[in-house]
Amino acid sequence: MSNVISIINLKGGVGKTTITVALAEFLAVEHQKRVLVIDLDPQTNSTVALIGEEEWELRNQNSQTLHALFKDHIDDTYTFEIDKSIVRKASNLRGGLDNLHLLPSSLDFVKIQDRLINIWQTALIRPFDVLKNAVQNHLDNYDFVLIDCPPNLGIVTQNGLNISNWYLIPTIPDHLSTYGIPQIISSVKNFNRKKADGEVKLLGVVASMYRSTVNRHNATLRQLELQVQQGQLTRLFETKVPLASRAADATYYEVDGINTLKQKYGNAGDHLYASFQSLAEEFLTYVKI
Ligand SMILES: Nc1ncnc2c1ncn2[C@@H]1O[C@H](COP(=O)(O)OP(=O)(O)OP(=O)(O)O)[C@@H](O)[C@H]1O
Ligand SMILES: [Mg+2]
Repeated sequence: MSNVISIINLKGGVGKTTITVALAEFLAVEHQKRVLVIDLDPQTNSTVALIGEEEWELRNQNSQTLHALFKDHIDDTYTFEIDKSIVRKASNLRGGLDNLHLLPSSLDFVKIQDRLINIWQTALIRPFDVLKNAVQNHLDNYDFVLIDCPPNLGIVTQNGLNISNWYLIPTIPDHLSTYGIPQIISSVKNFNRKKADGEVKLLGVVASMYRSTVNRHNATLRQLELQVQQGQLTRLFETKVPLASRAADATYYEVDGINTLKQKYGNAGDHLYASFQSLAEEFLTYVKI
C-alpha cells in the first residue's frame, strides 16, 4: 500500500511547498522511491517548481490539471482524464526523474474555489471525495504520495486528507506559525469521523527556516518538545530545515544542467542539502514501506 502524506499548515509561507518538493526529490533520487506529488494549492507553486511554467500552461490549456477535475464536478462536464494528467517525468534534475510524478494544479483553481460547495448539489459524491474517486486506482503505483496543500483546511485540503494516512506540519519555530497547530489537530480529528477508510494521523511537526541564533526559535522548539512529552504532539522532527537563501533558488525550475541534489540545494554555510538529506532519512524511519 502506498503511503499518502498531506503537508499542511493554516499559516501561509512556512515552507510547505519547499519541503514537499525537496522531500519528493530526495526520496526519488537518494532512496529510489516511486513518488507522486499532488499539488492541491491554487497557487500552483509545487507544479511550477517541478515542471516549469511553459509545461504548466500547456497542460492547463488541455484540462490536465486538478482545476479541470473539480470544475467537471461543479459544471457536470467530462474534460479531466487522470491518465493524461499525471506528469510522468517531473523535476529539473537530470532533465526529469522517471520515478517522480506530478498531478498539477492550476491558477484557474482560484476562480472556482467559491463554487466548490456546489459539488454537493450537482454530483452524487461528497465534495471531499472528488480527488479520491479520480486517483484511488493510481495510488498503489507509488511508494509515497506527497500532497502540497493550500494554507487552509477548506474543501480542497479535505480532499487531500481524505486520501492520506499521514499529515505533516511544517512550521517556522515562532509564535504566529505554531499558533494554529492545536486547531489543525482538532480539525483533522473531526474530519476523521467523516473519513471512510482509516484515520489520517499526525506524522509530526518539522521546523522550517530555523535560525539557531534566534532565541525565539529555540524557545518555541522547547515548547513544542514539551507538547510532545505531554502527549499533545506525536513528534517534533529532529531535523530542522535551516533558513537558507538557496531554498528559493531550489524551487526555480528554469535552471538547466542540474544533475545532483547537492548542486541543486547547495551545501555551503547553511547546509541545506545535508538537512534535506537528513529529513528524508528521518521521514523514512517513521513511514516504513
Ligand atoms: N528553508 C528556507 N530558507 C529560506 N527561505 C525559504 C525556506 N523555505 C522556504 N523559503 C522561502 O519562503 C517562501 C515560502 O516558502 P514556501 O512557498 O515553501 O511556503 P508555503 O508554506 O508553501 O507557502 P504557501 O502557504 O503560500 O503555500 C518562499 O519564498 C520560499 O522560497
Ligand atoms: Mg505552498
